[in-house]
Amino acid sequence: MKKLWGGRFSKNTDKLVEDFHSSISFDKRLYYWDIKGSIAHARMLGDAGIIPQEDSRKIIIGLEEILAEIDSGKVEFDLSAEDIHMNVEVLLIKKIGDTGKKLHTGRSRNDQVALDTRLYLRAEIETIQGLLQELSVTILDLAEKHLETVMPGYTHLQRAQPVTFAHHLMAYFQMFVRDKERLEDCNKRVNISPLGSGALAGTTFPLKREQVAEELGFSRITLNSIDGVSDRDYVIEFMSCASIIMMHLSRFCEELIFWSSQEVQFVDMDDAYSTGSSIMPQKKNPDVAELIRGKTGRVYGNLIAMLTVMKGLPLAYNKDMQEDKEGLFDTVDTLKKSLLVFSPMIATMKVNREKMLTASKGGFTNATDLADYLVKKGMPFRDAHEVVGKLVAYCLSNDKSLDDLSVEEFQGFSPLIKEDVYREISVYTCVEKRNSPGGPASEQVKTAIEAGRKVVK
Ligand code: ARG
Repeated sequence: MKKLWGGRFSKNTDKLVEDFHSSISFDKRLYYWDIKGSIAHARMLGDAGIIPQEDSRKIIIGLEEILAEIDSGKVEFDLSAEDIHMNVEVLLIKKIGDTGKKLHTGRSRNDQVALDTRLYLRAEIETIQGLLQELSVTILDLAEKHLETVMPGYTHLQRAQPVTFAHHLMAYFQMFVRDKERLEDCNKRVNISPLGSGALAGTTFPLKREQVAEELGFSRITLNSIDGVSDRDYVIEFMSCASIIMMHLSRFCEELIFWSSQEVQFVDMDDAYSTGSSIMPQKKNPDVAELIRGKTGRVYGNLIAMLTVMKGLPLAYNKDMQEDKEGLFDTVDTLKKSLLVFSPMIATMKVNREKMLTASKGGFTNATDLADYLVKKGMPFRDAHEVVGKLVAYCLSNDKSLDDLSVEEFQGFSPLIKEDVYREISVYTCVEKRNSPGGPASEQVKTAIEAGRKVVK
């Protein structure tokens, strides 16, 4: 087929080159936005008197028909037409004849591809925000059920101080709220129309850039034609947001994997979200959580690839930039699938309250509280720390927990310790006393959940 840009060429493109530089196999997924963008451009060309209104109408009708045909799966894209932009143009010319050749007036594929990608990304950001919203609600629902479920809080993966499962879950809630805000902010820079930047130096035609931007729902137009076509910050920024979301999911998954181990048994993944082993009949593996953790790597990879593609590019457009799409699409797909499967996975898992409680009683998670108890009885904190350290060593060599000690045993270490110590160091008291704002006491977590409900509304 004759190329749309074939005028100055006297030879056909090499077959290998055609295959190598063609992007239709992946950028065809932009067809909807490409056509919407072209319709807005065509309407503007007519309104501005750059082409006759009659031609503008013909082009728009033709484009609408092409959109319906692609939607219904009737269209075979042509590899030799290189990309989605020229495929649509070829289809248009085939459909309406020479009038179709007027569509590309005052436009370049350089501003067109930036337009399409921004429109695509804006829609995907909205979908992803919806998925984050669903996940946040799932977490709130789960947290509400576990306000009294005491579990050990960890530092260095060593039992540290008792918290509740609700409080632990609400830490993730905060992360996903930030993630949604970050996407909101990213979208401010995505939702800007580059159309009218031309190849790089604008155009000699009196384009109404604002009209196109408004029809397509953009908040404004880009302010420099060179930047308009050479900017891929919006792709990179989105990929950074996606990487952070995947990092949060991956940390959560890492905990779920740990919690579902035979050694811990805090949670039991539903059969529908686990898989077995082909050789070991007893196995039930948390594959979904592992896969999300694993896929985080490729989302980071896409980000680093794109940063690397862009780092040496002179202004303005360079074909290198076509490399943005596969990584972007892969990032969007991976993130959406991960979010989609993660919410029901945590909603359906069984939470083993007894195991969590037992674990929080072991490991001396109430040692700080015992030290605080001594401080309240008049001992300086540093001395209290020393006394409790000795008590822990004593317990370890006698295979006991602090709660198991008799008053006599306690008094061997400090005469300040009395019968009231047991209430003070019960894990329930330890949690409830931590009633500082943002702390694990049920009152605080309830407040956090209520505030969270307002945020996700
Ligand atoms: N397929 C190209 C891309 O994705 C479209 C822009 C091509 N522009 C050009 N001058 N070759 O980047």
